[in-house]
Amino acid sequence: MTERSCRYLLALILLSLCIVPALAQTSDDYWAPWVTLTTTDSATINWRGEENGSGSIDYATSSYFDTHYSYEKTIATTEAATYQHVRISGLESNTSYTYRVRPSGRDESFDNRTFRTMPISGPFTFIVISDPQKGQNYEEKQRFKYVADAIEKEPDILFILIGGDYNGHDSDGLWNKFFEAADGMLSKYAIFPTIGNHEYHNSSGGNNPPTAANHYHWAFDMPLNYSFDCSGIRFIVLNTPDPNNANGDDPHTSLVLAKNQESWLREQLDNDTLLGAFTIHHHPIWDYYNITANPNLEPWETLYHTYNISATFAGHTHNYQRYSIEGIPYFIVGNAGGRCADLTGDASPVGYKFGMNKTLGYLEVTVDPANNTATAQEWIVATVKDDDSKDKPKVFKTQEMIDSITFPIKHQPI
Ligand SMILES: [Fe+2]
Repeated sequence: MTERSCRYLLALILLSLCIVPALAQTSDDYWAPWVTLTTTDSATINWRGEENGSGSIDYATSSYFDTHYSYEKTIATTEAATYQHVRISGLESNTSYTYRVRPSGRDESFDNRTFRTMPISGPFTFIVISDPQKGQNYEEKQRFKYVADAIEKEPDILFILIGGDYNGHDSDGLWNKFFEAADGMLSKYAIFPTIGNHEYHNSSGGNNPPTAANHYHWAFDMPLNYSFDCSGIRFIVLNTPDPNNANGDDPHTSLVLAKNQESWLREQLDNDTLLGAFTIHHHPIWDYYNITANPNLEPWETLYHTYNISATFAGHTHNYQRYSIEGIPYFIVGNAGGRCADLTGDASPVGYKFGMNKTLGYLEVTVDPANNTATAQEWIVATVKDDDSKDKPKVFKTQEMIDSITFPIKHQPI
């Protein structure tokens, strides 16, 4: 046997030792893993398994795994729970990791998945989507899956911001469909979630009171407003839907809710060491349907211009819109799957620059701190029928860019 044959045989043996039968990915009871809260040296691995279940995670740097066909470390769950959130620490920065979750109650593991830790410095690219939710006349996952599958094919994405409204309402079946449709992109990239109004929607509909947004909390297990840093840039996630300001089961923004987060937001922005700051919240401040800014979010709008944030993202309205408000880009990226909203009317708001409806897509943002620039590009993967029906959208073979803007991440200080 030649040396090359020996090496090949050894690789096969090693591979067979580390492979256990793979679990069909997201199913009714088991949701394949998703990664949240990545930092330069840690990450949280989440999954849903059997009731009061447990499990373990095998992991290694992807370069180690690809060379040795095995993992370096294993960590086990410490609490019996249906939804697991396991924090892994001691990781290397700006490094791809390969991991495998072995949930209790099944012989099979989930397939290998990956994520990348945050860099300490240097450029990076992230994606922003919002409102994959069920629309009026079509199944929950039909439209969003086109977007999720296109994101899965994107190379070198560090993380995905999701602006809320994951599906129609707070129900097991619909959240199951979200994770089913999102599986490909979740198998490669970490996500940072935002809560939307539909997370509170009661499956009974009508004028029933909002739910406690149970599935959102169970799935993500994190505060409704939080922040994280990447390469000196701060990302701030805010909470706009207020269950105490509900029209039937549909929470809306309230001034009280915004004010309650105002001092925290100021603390997040009042930091001279930051190279820039992005914010995301479900409801927009500026929207085509309103000539003036959302008065309930005025406290945040004031802080955005006091501290000159880099840009802000929102969803809720199901189309793509871009504004320039005193030089700061405001994006609405609510076109990940929900029933489309028209861009019609006699007068658009001050600062409106561009918009597109009846499309499905995502925003890709590349940040270059050393050069003080960010470039945001809106990519569409499909156009839906004019009547917004459940008929199959026109899906592009390759996504098309419909908008691009480069802007400074650190505006001149006031
Ligand atoms: Fe919404």
